[in-house]
Amino acid sequence: MSAEPSVSPSRVGVWLIGARGSVATTAVAGCAAVTAGLHPPTGMVTETGVFQDAGLPPLSSLVFGGHDVVDCPLPKRAEALAAGGVLPHDLPSAVGAELEAAEREIRIGGPLRGDTRSEDELVEDLARDIRDFVRRGALDRAVVVNVASTEPVPEGDALPASSLYAAAALRAGCPYVNFTPSAGLHHPRLAPQATASGLPYAGRDGKTGQTLLRSVLGPMFAQRALAVRAWSGTNLLGGGDGAALADPAAAAAKNAGKERALADTLGTVPEGETHIDDVPSLGDWKTAWDHIAFDGFLGTRMVLQTTWQGCDSALAAPLILDLARLVARAHEAGLSGPLSELGFYFKDPVGDGPAALGEQYAALVDLAGRLRTAGDAEDPGPGDVKGPAGEHR
Ligand SMILES: NC(=O)c1ccc[n+]([C@@H]2O[C@H](COP(=O)([O-])OP(=O)(O)OC[C@H]3O[C@@H](n4cnc5c(N)ncnc54)[C@H](O)[C@@H]3O)[C@@H](O)[C@H]2O)c1
Repeated sequence: MSAEPSVSPSRVGVWLIGARGSVATTAVAGCAAVTAGLHPPTGMVTETGVFQDAGLPPLSSLVFGGHDVVDCPLPKRAEALAAGGVLPHDLPSAVGAELEAAEREIRIGGPLRGDTRSEDELVEDLARDIRDFVRRGALDRAVVVNVASTEPVPEGDALPASSLYAAAALRAGCPYVNFTPSAGLHHPRLAPQATASGLPYAGRDGKTGQTLLRSVLGPMFAQRALAVRAWSGTNLLGGGDGAALADPAAAAAKNAGKERALADTLGTVPEGETHIDDVPSLGDWKTAWDHIAFDGFLGTRMVLQTTWQGCDSALAAPLILDLARLVARAHEAGLSGPLSELGFYFKDPVGDGPAALGEQYAALVDLAGRLRTAGDAEDPGPGDVKGPAGEHR
């Protein structure tokens, strides 16, 4: 094996579940904009020196497609995002060809209203779409990334939509990233298949704002031996994510990850709750407010308050591009199972990794080193056919 990364121009598919959403559209438009030199790769960790020579696929090699359940064409979605100030106003026309190309690769997913397909039929249909995408594009591999609306925590044995897509990714032989708090591969029925697949996977729920800050501040309080009495938070946001999280069951899935970051860094669960309010007129702009009550020396009471005002999709999209490149390279290098080194990116990371952002960054840098020296693994490639709901035949 060569210590040099592969120089042959590979083509890597990025199959987005929720391909017509804000985050997906911003990722597709942003990738084209950075590739064309229209904008710098601000917010993309994989474009920093740490990943030089790590063999990551170049942005120009990424080919986009995906599933959604709505039919608004991607260029129209991009125009709406530009009108809302999420994308620069001239970007949709500047990258129109790339948006059209991705649009041609979007398929209607499921389950649809009144869908009568069995779980296995749905998984097979979804997997077929992914395999066809890989064949049509003569892609070396494809990474499936879930950026669909957040689901409530599943009850009972039936696979929720996110898990059907995750099973389809396994069945199509594709690595999988869950950028949402939905169950995805995390469903107990999929655990054996995830292990047996030998595919790398990462998740859950991108860490882009309030929880990013918590994973920095939590360790600070712990390391300075300051006693956190209560940590309360409120999020105001609109857009599709705000509407989805207006459902208390979906918000509960999101808040569990936010609270895990505190429990893991502080070592205890402090008093206080996190709330999410849908404010449609805010669109993609989120305000996240945290109120941290803590005790200093001799029990002196103090408070830290933070206000984070971010554009959600602009924070998330560069991470989608980072994760697609990292997981594609991990697959090429023969890594399998939960990629705990990617905990840096997630609220509720898979595997056993550190919870503090600094340590998570160190783990990511270690991964870059491993990828730099890994070469290419023997790779069965996408299209590996598996049995019902991801089981191997
Ligand atoms: N900073 C961030 O933006 C951020 C951070 C962490 C996690 N997330 C998560 O990313 C996801 C996407 O966020 P967004 O702002 O793009 O939301 P959005 O509402 O704009 O997009 C979600 C898309 O998913 C589609 N969808 C819904 N059900 C589907 C199904 N069964 N199959 C296929 N597609 C389906 C919707 O039609 C929509 O186009 C959400 O789950 C959100 O919680 C976002």
